[in-house]
Order: sequence, then C-alpha cells, then structure tokens
Amino acid sequence: ARTVVLLSGTGSLCAALLEAADDRGYPAEVVAVGADRQAPGLEHARRRGLPTFVCALGDHPDRAAWDRALADRIAAFAPDLVVSAGFMKIVGPAVLGAFEGRLLNTHPALLPAFPGAHAVRDALAAGATVTGSTVHLVDAGVDTGPVLAQREVPVLPGDDEATLHERIKHVERQLLVETVAAFAAAPPTTPPRTRKST
Ligand code: GRF
Repeated sequence: ARTVVLLSGTGSLCAALLEAADDRGYPAEVVAVGADRQAPGLEHARRRGLPTFVCALGDHPDRAAWDRALADRIAAFAPDLVVSAGFMKIVGPAVLGAFEGRLLNTHPALLPAFPGAHAVRDALAAGATVTGSTVHLVDAGVDTGPVLAQREVPVLPGDDEATLHERIKHVERQLLVETVAAFAAAPPTTPPRTRKST
C-alpha cells in the first residue's frame, strides 16, 4: 500500500516505518514524508532519496487554506494510506474528506485517556501507573477516532516526562509498524482502488 507519513518532530516513528518497509514483504511502501515545518524527522526520508514536503500553517492565509493545501500535497502521491506519526496539527475537512478511513494516527496514551498534545505529561500528573500507546483512525475530533490497536506501558517510580515518553515510543514504534501492516494488508472495505501494479 502506497503510504504517506506526516510528522512534526524527530521522526523516530517515521524512521521505524521506513526500516520496516525496507523488507520487501512489508505491505506498506512509504512514498513520501510531509511535515508542518522543516522538522528534523524529514531527514530520514531525504537520506533515502524519498520525496518530502513542508506545508506550514504560516504560509497560508488561514487554517482552511492550509488544510486544502495539505490535502493537495498528500494527494499528489496517490496514497492508499496516510500515517500521522507525531504530526502535531489537527487536520481539517479537506484532509478528512480526502483520506478519512485511511488516515491513521499514533498517540502516546491509552485513548480515550489523556487525549491532546501533552498525553505523557498528563498521565504522569494524574499519577497513572499504567499508560500506553494507541493507533487509531483520525476523525474530525482530537484523538477521538476508532481505535485500531493499543498496548500498555508501565509508569515507573522516578519517571519524568522524558523517560516515560521514551518508554512509550519504544512500544509505539512496534505497535505502529504492526498496525500499519495489518491495515495495509486488510482487504479494502470500500470498492477496490486501482492498486499500483507491483
Ligand atoms: C510520538 O510519541 C507521537 O505519538 C507524539 O509525538 C511523538 C513523536 O515522536 N505525538 P517522533 O517525532 O516520531 O520521534
């Protein structure tokens, strides 16, 4: 399945997908990586000669224009699947209209617990002893779409946001690679799209 990855940060999750996709048996092929800024994570794609794009909110007159531009940049690669891997923007109706149902997000908590941009900090502040990683389909809400997979991660005494997030990201990488593979290999529930002839 042709896959576009979206990121905003270091791209360790994107790197995990790229490494998994090095195995020709892996059912997803990353065809491009996009970001909402000149994120360091884009380097993982550039190093492999993969196309990258930046669609920054500040380059557009308003969110709706940015949302439309992002939808167009993604669509240019004719993806079967879009994976938000640490993409820190809420996509709008243009992106959802084009990709809802095949737009996955990974979140560093056991949704519906701790949605939003500070999930790891919130879990610590709440005194949670167990948190985890969630991969879900993106809908119009914030971290509210149907859950595809979850895996627990223990919170250890003495954890701070960095140590807990690193432990979650280790699990998150594995869960994302597994869930993307399962989703990419699953028979399309919608009328089959013209698949790239491989
Ligand atoms: C991941 O934990 C993701 O769930 C969260 O931010 C982190 C991104 O990490 N939104 P990276 O950029 O893939 O290293």
